[in-house]
Amino acid sequence: MHITRKLLSLAASSVLLWNTASFAVDDAELRKKGEYIFHLAGCMGCHTDTKNKGALLAGGLSFNTPFGKFYSPNITPDPVHGIGKWTEADFIKALREGVSPQGKQYYPVFPYTAYSQMQLGDIKALWAYLHSISAVAQPSKEHELSWYVFRVSNRGWKMLYFTSKEWENIAGKSAAWNRGAYIANALAHCGECHTPRNMFGALKTSQHYAGNLAGPEGAKVPNITHDVETGIGGWKKDELLAFFSEGATPDGDYTGGLMAEVVDNSLKYLSKEDAEALVSYLAEVPAISNVIKSKEKKRRSD
Ligand code: HEC
Ligand code: HEC
Repeated sequence: MHITRKLLSLAASSVLLWNTASFAVDDAELRKKGEYIFHLAGCMGCHTDTKNKGALLAGGLSFNTPFGKFYSPNITPDPVHGIGKWTEADFIKALREGVSPQGKQYYPVFPYTAYSQMQLGDIKALWAYLHSISAVAQPSKEHELSWYVFRVSNRGWKMLYFTSKEWENIAGKSAAWNRGAYIANALAHCGECHTPRNMFGALKTSQHYAGNLAGPEGAKVPNITHDVETGIGGWKKDELLAFFSEGATPDGDYTGGLMAEVVDNSLKYLSKEDAEALVSYLAEVPAISNVIKSKEKKRRSD
């Protein structure tokens, strides 16, 4: 008798658990996946004005470029100042094609050029996550651009330099390499800083990851190709893993400037498996000899 009652209540509670689970878990899991993509893709660093204690994703961070000053917009779910009225399809279009719901052509300072390669499932998860953060009623700022820069010219720029294409695994490469290539190029957009640009601001693909003397905010961005002398070809696997998790470099320094933010907002969240995948990819980035001296390193004892 006693045992039957126990069994019954056990059965009842597991039915209850199962029921609540089947409502909530799906969404929570999707949001969790979205949060991971959000970290790896580095949305936070650009859309949060951390220095001025700005609210999460409320925008307002400025970017000085040869074309003028851009400000990141508010991308919280606020219906007036953010993207609260957007549909999922609007969001997919913004990331895939660099076009707003009203047909505005985005400037490539928003790296949709990389995100257009994101897998649809990842974009949808990201969308679910963005909806779980707090709406902030803060207007976005107007860009302050040079007289010759117009939004309409982005259309021409795209015709020359942009093709929207979801990432496809490359046959003959390992699963780890492919995952690493996806993380580096579609999500973490390493090339947006580590690849030099032409005078129109488009990446020089022949110099993939070879370093950039004129990086964002004037930063000198080092060569991270597999070249032993001028790149990171001499770094061991464990050294790269330590770099991703805490920004430590093999010579006893910590990385500084923008890269410290990339580690903090993004790379430190890599799962062990994904960190190893990124190592596999970087190990095969063709070596290009190109000396870039970086000045921003901090001594570890600081
Ligand atoms: C390098 C900085 C940078 C990163 C990284 C970045 N953005 Fe942006 N984003 C911008 C800027 C600048 C704009 C404004 C572009 C314009 O006005 O043409 C923008 C525009 C947008 C817009 C359009 C908003 C509107 O009101 O039309 C959305 C949506 C957006 N970003 C979402 C994201 C998401 C999601 C991520 C991460 C996957 C992300 N951004 C990563 C800088 C960035
Ligand atoms: C927002 C721009 C930006 C992005 C995005 C970025 N980096 Fe960096 N990275 C830098 C800068 C700037 C430095 C130099 C920092 C310094 O001076 O200490 C750097 C330094 C490094 C270094 C150290 C190299 C050396 O010789 O000391 C490695 C390794 C590295 N980045 C890898 C990556 C990888 C892998 C990605 C993508 C997952 C990435 N970075 C994305 C800007 C960026």
